[in-house]
Amino acid sequence: MPGLMSCRSEMEAEKPLKGAKITGSLHMTIQTAVLIETLKSLGADIRWCSCNIFSTQDHAAAAIAQSNSASVFAWKAETLEEYWWCVNEALTWYDEAGYPNPNEGPNLIVDDGGDATLLIHEGVEWENNYEVNKKLPNPDDTDNLEMKEVYRVLAKELEKNPKKWQTIANNVYGVSEETTTGVHRLYTMAENNKLLFPALNVNDSVTKSKFDNLYGCKHSLPDGIMRATDVMLAGKEVLVFGYGDVGKGCAFSLKAAGCRVNIAEIDPICALQAAMEGLTVCRKEDVLSTCDIFVTATGNKDIIMVEDMVKMKNNAIVCNIGHFDNEIDIGGLENFPGIIKENIKPQNDRWIFPDGHGVLVLAEGRLVNLGCATGHPSFVMSCSFTNQTVAQVELWKNKNTDKYRNEVYVLPKKLDEKVAHLHLNHLNARLTRLTDEQALYIKVPKDGPFKPNHYRY
Ligand code: NAD
Ligand code: ADE
Repeated sequence: MPGLMSCRSEMEAEKPLKGAKITGSLHMTIQTAVLIETLKSLGADIRWCSCNIFSTQDHAAAAIAQSNSASVFAWKAETLEEYWWCVNEALTWYDEAGYPNPNEGPNLIVDDGGDATLLIHEGVEWENNYEVNKKLPNPDDTDNLEMKEVYRVLAKELEKNPKKWQTIANNVYGVSEETTTGVHRLYTMAENNKLLFPALNVNDSVTKSKFDNLYGCKHSLPDGIMRATDVMLAGKEVLVFGYGDVGKGCAFSLKAAGCRVNIAEIDPICALQAAMEGLTVCRKEDVLSTCDIFVTATGNKDIIMVEDMVKMKNNAIVCNIGHFDNEIDIGGLENFPGIIKENIKPQNDRWIFPDGHGVLVLAEGRLVNLGCATGHPSFVMSCSFTNQTVAQVELWKNKNTDKYRNEVYVLPKKLDEKVAHLHLNHLNARLTRLTDEQALYIKVPKDGPFKPNHYRY
């Protein structure tokens, strides 16, 4: 991970994160372990949990715990109850006497999908209500299985300390958010004046979304499908929902593997891009009964419903690579009259309909690349996590300035270019230098930034 190693060699002596108490909620993989150790080497104290019940690599979590690099609350195949217990533990800091004390931390958040940010914000809202009407959150008031657990955690914490989340929100100098879906949540909160601390949008660094989302998924989507099913990809007909950064990566690798690739899109620009790549753009109803593999990559909800799976061919593979598990209607499958769930192996279930045909659902509809394989490889995660490291240093450096308000910001292009630069050597790539005359002619500084902010790459 050249970017992270270079962060260490550049900043380790200075310890720019000295005093920072970082809570991280991001897949606990071997790559994340290197991020944690990098943040630690820059001076931070760290507590960590995963942001998905299936994505933890237990050996990575164990190594971090053993080396005392961070307190880790994550293991592969958590229940939802355990998952939210872990998020709460990662956000609960203790004083020297061993008592939970929100004044001790966290003061920075690394988030992937926004669950740590959500728990703090929901917590503050419930504490404010509680002050007025002494009402505790009740899991029976929501049908959402995740929110039931959130309410359980918040009710317990409210009884212990009715100021916990307000204290935390006041102490947090900012969050750096890793993924598209988490960033959407942040912009919505900022628009509604609900955001309680500044947010750095790491996803929209070019060296994150145009690399991790694209090339990362290009590698790890087929890895997940193949580890889970051992199926031959060549010759199969597939439907990828969404042709954004992730969908593009997925479609490219499936096409390269010999699949016949269809794309479902709502956005005419992305649909046109898919068509220009030689892919078929269609609606799901056109190909439900002919496709062998279905992949959701939209970040939206209700993409493949149980009524769709009823029409699929026997042993069609259904999986999701978007952040949350609401793209595939798992609830609909569970409640379908007469259906039988046969567990083929961990994270691969065959749902058999009463007519005898079955569909293979991978990772219970959660992100297949991290549930059934090991996510993106280190090189691409080095780009993403160098942005995360820079973002954390930036937030901490500005903790006593008014540079950041409770809004969402992207990192400057110069830093984005630097992240790319740090990874070129490793690929034996040699950059061409502008001459003075050329720089003047295209009106670009010789050392960058090389593109205006509106450039789209
Ligand atoms: P994006 O916004 O670039 O792409 C999503 C695409 O889905 C858009 O083009 C949008 O028009 C399309 N879409 C929305 N609703 C649709 C519908 N009903 N039918 C068809 N298409 C629809 O986002 P992205 O960066 O590609 O991320 C997609 C998801 O993947 C997000 O949830 C993100 O957080 C997640 N993600 C996962 C990984 C991973 O490793 N698994 C990595 C990066 C991002
Ligand atoms: N997101 C996608 N792949 C990942 C990985 N290997 N580690 C952490 N987060 C990821």
